[in-house]
Amino acid sequence: MTSLPPLSGLRGRHYVTDMDFTHEELEALLELAVALKALRAKRRLTPFLPGRHLAMIFEAASTRTRVSFENGFAELGGNALYLRPGEIHLPGRETVGDTARTLSRMCDAIEIRTKKNETIEELARHASVPVINGMDANRHPVQSMSDMLTVLEHAGKLNGVTFAYVGDAAHPCNSLATTATKLGLNVRIGNAAGYEIGPDIRAAAAANAAASGGSFLLTNDPLEAIHDADFVYTDCWWWTGQEDEYKDRVAAFKPFQVNRELWSHTKPGAKFMHCLPAMRGEEVTDEVADSEASIIFPQAENRLHFQKALMLALIGIDELPADLDLQPIGRALLV
Ligand code: CP
Repeated sequence: MTSLPPLSGLRGRHYVTDMDFTHEELEALLELAVALKALRAKRRLTPFLPGRHLAMIFEAASTRTRVSFENGFAELGGNALYLRPGEIHLPGRETVGDTARTLSRMCDAIEIRTKKNETIEELARHASVPVINGMDANRHPVQSMSDMLTVLEHAGKLNGVTFAYVGDAAHPCNSLATTATKLGLNVRIGNAAGYEIGPDIRAAAAANAAASGGSFLLTNDPLEAIHDADFVYTDCWWWTGQEDEYKDRVAAFKPFQVNRELWSHTKPGAKFMHCLPAMRGEEVTDEVADSEASIIFPQAENRLHFQKALMLALIGIDELPADLDLQPIGRALLV
């Protein structure tokens, strides 16, 4: 039987932000994700959580997050419930605390996509089962860790990889800044002036880089960000509720568009990443999104594999099955 010490320490914990997790715990989750992905490729069933229930609260639309959590939990042998406002009493007719206490009696974990960080933080305070962040107002930690799985697969390592993000300081950008620096990457964030990541994220990323041996750079120059990068990542320039800012945002972010010209300045062999959905023609053009350099769909698929590992670790099983082969690529992370 196999049981990695960092994983056994994750049982019962919330995953509201990656910042609460150690470097070793994040690496162990990636190792488990690699192993689960390998089993799925062999069409091996992984019903390690039979009879368990996942509540999925979505206050906003989703394609990848919903499908990866719902199908991922089914692949682990459990049942996932999709709960939308209007179908449950949250928000408005019941407190977050009462919702958390009720769901904790009937479910083994709660995933939530919320527009307010206070909602997930209050849910976590009152829930007695793990609460998982499926994206809040400014963080997307399941996305950033799934992205690290994608980087690991393509680079064969995380330490020393140079990872650039260009565009708006939105949810994945914030989470990538802290996750990737904790895992030892050289992180280059290129945000438009006036749209930079906040001082708390900057401070956390710089501290992480100092501890991990990685590095952290924040710049307003997209070319400085992508120079020598192994991976170049972007995301949408505007979000629902920001329609009034549309013209200003498009003007500010135009130099950050990942198009053929910008791509000509990247390192040969660099890979293009995007968390999706993409606003094609805005932050990225088809010629890059559909190019050989693009790994956006393998990246989307890795949401499934990382989140299965996360749910398994947080809900917990006593020991992993003996034939859950921890792959050398994941094992190397622990060296
Ligand atoms: N990247 C992401 O979270 O996609 P969805 O909004 O489709 O879930």
